[in-house]
Amino acid sequence: MNGMFSLAGRNAFITGGTSGIGKAVAEAFVAHGARVVIADITDGSEVADAMGTTFVRADVSDDDSVATALQQAVDALGSKLDIVVLNAGVGDVGPTFEQTDQALIEKVTKINHWGVLYGLKHAPGFMNDGGAIISTSSMAAFINVPGAGVYSAGKRAVVSMTEMAALELGPRGIRVNTVCPGYTATALGSGEEGEKLCEAFTALGRVATVEDMAGVYVFLASPASAYMTGQALKVDGGWDCGPTSRLLEMVTGSGEAPG
Ligand SMILES: NC(=O)c1ccc[n+]([C@@H]2O[C@H](COP(=O)([O-])OP(=O)(O)OC[C@H]3O[C@@H](n4cnc5c(N)ncnc54)[C@H](O)[C@@H]3O)[C@@H](O)[C@H]2O)c1
Repeated sequence: MNGMFSLAGRNAFITGGTSGIGKAVAEAFVAHGARVVIADITDGSEVADAMGTTFVRADVSDDDSVATALQQAVDALGSKLDIVVLNAGVGDVGPTFEQTDQALIEKVTKINHWGVLYGLKHAPGFMNDGGAIISTSSMAAFINVPGAGVYSAGKRAVVSMTEMAALELGPRGIRVNTVCPGYTATALGSGEEGEKLCEAFTALGRVATVEDMAGVYVFLASPASAYMTGQALKVDGGWDCGPTSRLLEMVTGSGEAPG
């Protein structure tokens, strides 16, 4: 059983690694023995130094920038990648589809949807066989919260691309999975409103921490998940199990099913 979660000797590349979930994943990967490069549109040099990782600049919404960052990561590490985490994203939500402006549609789609697509397009060429690709989708891929239509669509696309890439890369032993976090306390997260929603809607009754997420990425990157590919893992505190007693009580005055 020893070593089941070990990432010793593995080279990892993480987009959106400067903050939030990506940074926590980078820290967890280092703790499990990986050599890590973080890529972000925001300067993460100091963050990278503090974690004992390397920073490269990347805009995931730009095809060439993704390829260049992957090449820089391989150059910095001196060998190919074993683990690629396509995590960078933005949380902008609009009102209804009818009222959503073009700038928001393009920004969210280019970063959250195309950004993962560019990663899946370029990363395999920089990877060893037998590696793992993990993206960050969202609970929003499965739970529709009104007003988050463009965001939800992009995150659902990530689930679709995960299944397709798993088929394409299976012959090389590269596993492709995606994590679907619920509301998580980060810069992108939804603050007090998110906390209130999680209290009512999640079985666990609380918002997630970045540490709640990091272990799932370690699992998906490690030999512990060796036979798992093409999967979307919901890490949402049980939001999608159904209404909680707390929620039922708010609506009907009783915490149990009516009838
Ligand atoms: N926080 C939540 O509640 C939550 C819930 C579900 C899914 N997610 C997803 O988790 C992922 C990480 O978000 P987070 O919550 O850690 O937020 P965060 O804002 O802390 O981190 C996002 C990172 O992505 C980077 N980034 C943004 N646009 C980029 C671009 N074009 N190119 C490269 N890097 C870019 C940012 O600079 C930042 O470092 C996102 O994909 C997000 O959609 C977050």
